[in-house]
Amino acid sequence: MLVGMETSDDAGVYQLTEDLALVQTVDFFTPVVDDPYMFGQIAAANALSDVYAMGGKPLTAMNIVGFPVKKLEKRILAEILRGAADKVAEAGAVLVGGHTIDDQEPKFGLAVTGIIDPKRIRRNRGAEPGDALILTKPIGVGIYTTAIKRDLLSPEEIQEVTSVMAALNRAAAEVMGEFEVHACTDVTGFGLLGHAYEMIRDTSVGLEIDYKRIPILERARYLSQQGVVPGGTKSNHQWLQPCVQYPAGLITEDQWVLCDAVTSGGLLIAVPAVQAEGLLRRLHEQGVSAAAQIGHFVAENPGCIRVR
Ligand code: CO
Ligand code: CO
Repeated sequence: MLVGMETSDDAGVYQLTEDLALVQTVDFFTPVVDDPYMFGQIAAANALSDVYAMGGKPLTAMNIVGFPVKKLEKRILAEILRGAADKVAEAGAVLVGGHTIDDQEPKFGLAVTGIIDPKRIRRNRGAEPGDALILTKPIGVGIYTTAIKRDLLSPEEIQEVTSVMAALNRAAAEVMGEFEVHACTDVTGFGLLGHAYEMIRDTSVGLEIDYKRIPILERARYLSQQGVVPGGTKSNHQWLQPCVQYPAGLITEDQWVLCDAVTSGGLLIAVPAVQAEGLLRRLHEQGVSAAAQIGHFVAENPGCIRVR
């Protein structure tokens, strides 16, 4: 086993031969949007993302389904599965099976298996002082999906957050392969700051983040100030208190946005500063339009994040 459970990495990695290893991950959750076809796409993009975050290439996927068989029409489940199948095909992987159980509340996700060259594994730890930190998708997704449940978003905003979540991290992962990336993870349930913290936790590097450079969905701050915040986001914020220093004047509601629990977020990439501009240019060329350098790793305050 090359990567196990000790460092909260994105996926497990198991070596097969000198230059081939398996990458394995599983994730599932309750619906985050009303459209079952889009929910299937989002769940698949999210599950595939952990393979991309390791620098791997997904090969096979299996559906995991909980569905109220007697309460909801079968057509809805068929749409969820169709969304997932389309996304898996877009990733160049194949669906090889799955399992369904009768469940009061619908749940859906996938187990994904990929391959990777053991010499090119992108762990979440490994960033060095001076490295740039790049984020490839906007944050605020958890706040937006909570707003959907409370009927507070316009159809355009629902479409925007849906397409952010359904976008594969495939292009970002492929571009990453062209550069000397020191570390990578993806932003999901622990939020931007939670996953950034996992990159430096128990290491000798610290992290400085430039608040103004973070791509944030347009109305996320406003909605947060209105109290439209998932419970998980507030627990992330609480949990991160001892290791994050916020700029004076950044109100709690804005701090919540940085800790917002994300579904199917972007990659967080640590790359030597001299390669940051080239990496960003390639990401933008490949359609990863939100990608931005949001900070850099430092030798000071190891294991801590300072937001400026
Ligand atoms: Co992950
Ligand atoms: Co995961």
